[in-house]
Amino acid sequence: MRTPIIAGNWKMNNTIAATKALVTELIPLVKDAKAEVVICTPYTDLATAVELTKGTNIKVGAENVHWAEKGAFTGEISADMLVELGVTYVIIGHSERRQYFGETDQTVNARVKAALAKGLKPIICVGETLEEREGGLVEEVLVRQTTEALKDIAKEELANIVIAYEPVWAIGTGKTATAEVANDTIKIIRDTVAKLYDKATAEALRIQYGGSMNPKNVKELMAMPEIDGGLIGGASLKAPDFSLVVNY
Ligand code: PGA
Repeated sequence: MRTPIIAGNWKMNNTIAATKALVTELIPLVKDAKAEVVICTPYTDLATAVELTKGTNIKVGAENVHWAEKGAFTGEISADMLVELGVTYVIIGHSERRQYFGETDQTVNARVKAALAKGLKPIICVGETLEEREGGLVEEVLVRQTTEALKDIAKEELANIVIAYEPVWAIGTGKTATAEVANDTIKIIRDTVAKLYDKATAEALRIQYGGSMNPKNVKELMAMPEIDGGLIGGASLKAPDFSLVVNY
């Protein structure tokens, strides 16, 4: 019922030259994918990625967006600027932004609203730290992050939103959550959305897993009923690896 969505999160990797090489190699490898395919690139690579993927099944996303329409926010990028480039998706609230750049549940919510207002589709990242998991706080953290991110967002907008569950301890560490843990934790998020909206809205919402997802573990993760795709960091930087994940 839910179309799976596999998105690469390039993070701060790839110059324009590297983008040209990677995207050109990727296009034929993923052209028959059953999943929706997205690559989220640094701002400087977006125009190139959009141009190269025109007429293909690959959509392009940004890795962040500011909440204001415009103004005195040195170094920031607005939703209008991304829309003008032909960007479709935008990652919001990645744990690296929360950890290193002062992102809070409130700024995540503000960015989500700004993105939706301009027709961008947010990929909202949530996930607990190792400390929070070991302290038995997983449910509390995920309910809070999900509820705050979706504050004052209309039910109809949920069709344009993807949530990525990314346990912080699994990102870039090679430690994947087991398929069962990922599935059960995503269920917490889906149940939270059902409480905030209704069951049908929650059942229709796509929720990805992210955190060391790769060609070796993708099949097992994607076989789980709650997991609707992946947000892929390291394994999205090489076309053969990413295509194996996309064509799981
Ligand atoms: P990883 O990153 O696949 O390298 O763990 C995932 C992410 O941070 O989105």
